[in-house]
Amino acid sequence: MSITIFSQGRNTSRWESALKEHRPGLEVYVYPNTAPAEQVEFALAWNHPPGVFTEFPNLKCIASTGAGVDHILRDPELPVGVQITRIVDEDLTQDMATFVTAQVLNHVRGLHRYKDAQRGHTWKQHSYRRTSDVVIGVMGMGVLGTHTAQQLSKLGFKVNGWSRSPKLIEGIGAYAGAEELTAFLEKANILICLLPLTKDTANILNKDTFSRLPKGAYVINVARGEHLVDDDLIEMLDGGHLSGASLDVFREEPLPEEHPFWEHPLIHVTPHIASITNPASAVSQILENYDRMRHGEPLLHVVSKTKGY
Ligand code: NAP
Ligand code: GLV
Repeated sequence: MSITIFSQGRNTSRWESALKEHRPGLEVYVYPNTAPAEQVEFALAWNHPPGVFTEFPNLKCIASTGAGVDHILRDPELPVGVQITRIVDEDLTQDMATFVTAQVLNHVRGLHRYKDAQRGHTWKQHSYRRTSDVVIGVMGMGVLGTHTAQQLSKLGFKVNGWSRSPKLIEGIGAYAGAEELTAFLEKANILICLLPLTKDTANILNKDTFSRLPKGAYVINVARGEHLVDDDLIEMLDGGHLSGASLDVFREEPLPEEHPFWEHPLIHVTPHIASITNPASAVSQILENYDRMRHGEPLLHVVSKTKGY
């Protein structure tokens, strides 16, 4: 029995160690090194080579090593009967909430200005907004969005969430569906994108969306680069409607050397580090699903191929 890791351009050693440590005797392969093709049943994947899963006729489960599964579902040659699972993990959830909170507070308290001022030995106080005067809109009220919204609410921000179905959570305003999107956007001084990337959510951070935000709004994208129309963001920043953006994810990663985001004074770039799966913490759910697959039991955290998340 074995688990095979499919991951292009990433160091897989932490996953290999975690799997072997938690299940001594388990055979762990890293593609292109595999067991005989007909014995490969369980794949652990991040950015696999497209079409590769067609080589394994008995594959039953493809487990994403992250929360998102867009990197798997975009493969046009995905075998039909295979189940796709994703990571739902306390560390991943907590890390996202702390990263987004840091970006929000950095913006609201204008901390970056003091870094620049310090370089010039400039002592100058700026006014700031109190958390209770700021409305935050969270797009995507799933595992990560809900916890992030709750943490921000605890700090005193007014928080609204937008999802497909309304989420009734104490202290958080609930908006749902295309019909309530404008009402949600019109209130958001800070817009956070935590949506999965699907055909319905691609390019959702565009000029039309931004123009519905109050003037001076700030945008945080920690979901996927394909949610954002890059040129629309630059136009809305340069035109003064938006006050800035914090971007952790990009259409092409690493962000190409010549991309205008690098040099834009109102854009804060981070290299897809908002929340990185900790194999030591997430390995138990991978092994639990591996056992469930072997015993023909229902898997945990299965995604809907129809919904795309
Ligand atoms: P999740 O639990 O599946 O939640 C997805 C949320 O989005 C749900 O609330 C869902 O609404 C909502 N949604 C989906 N399609 C929608 C639509 N068309 N209109 C309105 N709402 C829609 O996902 P998650 O675990 O929170 O993760 C979210 C994403 O974060 C991942 O897919 C990944 O891309 C990204 N991520 C980024 C990093 C990073 O380091 N930057 C790390 C981890 C994850 P319903 O609840 O009504 O279904
Ligand atoms: C990271 O981007 C993830 O989807 O977990």
